[in-house]
Amino acid sequence: MKKVVVHHPGSYERLVFEEHPDLEPGPGEVLVDVHAIGVNYADCIVRMGLYSSARKYVGWPITPGFEVAGRVKRLGAGVTEFAIGDEVFGVTRFDAYATEVVIPKHQVFPRPSSVDAVHAAGFPGVFLTAHYALVELCRLRPGMKVLVHSAAGGVGGALTQIARLHGCDVVGVVGGAHKIAAAGAHGANAVIDKSHSDLWREAERHAPDGYDVVLDANGVETLGDSYQHVKPSGRLVIYGFHTMMPRSGGRPNYGKLAVDWLRTPRFNPLAMTEQNRSVMAFNLSYLFDRPELLAEGMRELLGWLAEGKVRPHEVRVFPFSEVRRAHELIESGTTVGKLVLLTDAAG
Ligand SMILES: NC(=O)c1ccc[n+]([C@@H]2O[C@H](COP(=O)([O-])OP(=O)(O)OC[C@H]3O[C@@H](n4cnc5c(N)ncnc54)[C@H](OP(=O)(O)O)[C@@H]3O)[C@@H](O)[C@H]2O)c1
Repeated sequence: MKKVVVHHPGSYERLVFEEHPDLEPGPGEVLVDVHAIGVNYADCIVRMGLYSSARKYVGWPITPGFEVAGRVKRLGAGVTEFAIGDEVFGVTRFDAYATEVVIPKHQVFPRPSSVDAVHAAGFPGVFLTAHYALVELCRLRPGMKVLVHSAAGGVGGALTQIARLHGCDVVGVVGGAHKIAAAGAHGANAVIDKSHSDLWREAERHAPDGYDVVLDANGVETLGDSYQHVKPSGRLVIYGFHTMMPRSGGRPNYGKLAVDWLRTPRFNPLAMTEQNRSVMAFNLSYLFDRPELLAEGMRELLGWLAEGKVRPHEVRVFPFSEVRRAHELIESGTTVGKLVLLTDAAG
């Protein structure tokens, strides 16, 4: 099998292809012949050595990657839910940048025939993240005002779709005019292009009383204002910090990181209680130890997919060999939808 291995933290050149012995699934595991691999912004943070759960679960060297689609190649002892040859997709805790991957069975799902492998590979990571944020943490109700940052991206697009299907009034924020249509296509009722307009003045115009839910993966650039625009009884959900990261070059600026770390708002529980606003945060990779949550989330998402209530993201495809180019692009902050790598097995 062939996989991408990162031996030391750094830029794109650290993504190195290596040949390794074929894998064997252990008890309760499924060996998947990988056809398509979803690229996530977090893969870049893993490559840079700044992703806590990568340090916790793997260390160095590491093969990045959180999501794949492919075909079942072998089954570990005790796996009766799948048969060899089944078309599947799923989430992994790293190791997805490979031509084969072993996945615990609770992280593997049958691929619906209506979704091809390319689109399926770009689906589970971002939609499970969005599902957890909105369904598990926020208890959406129709008419709620929801502000989604980076609404044309992977997680942001999924958040927009899920909030809209719950009847919420969604204001999507994007960082460039070329993203407005994509955020609108996900269902955003209004889109703010923060590269051309005053983000918070516009956000106030759309919701003078504030937002029931604000979803923020920007971190320091917007977090304080995001909290200030949550209305009483509302929630701020934090799930990333990408404004601390470089948009080019592939290496963090450690001086900026330190300053941004110091500038990141600290929330005061006394004030939060007085203001009657909640702040929540999570990382999906820690939730893979909660099979019941993944199963529940994916069951609901697959139901919505079948009913046409959500649809997979627009995908830009790269040959697996162009993984460095894919990292460079997603890091630039200019992409729309998902980037997916295609292995030779995709045929
Ligand atoms: N906690 C979790 O479980 C979890 C799971 C998945 C992803 N995430 C986080 O969610 C975020 C989105 O991930 P994704 O894979 O779906 O990526 P994405 O949204 O497809 O791409 C990232 C977007 O963030 C904005 N951005 C990127 N770099 C930036 C920078 N340096 N400064 C300002 N804005 C920047 C850009 O959108 P705009 O310019 O339009 O804002 C860019 O398109 C990431 O922060 C990721 O780490 C968290």
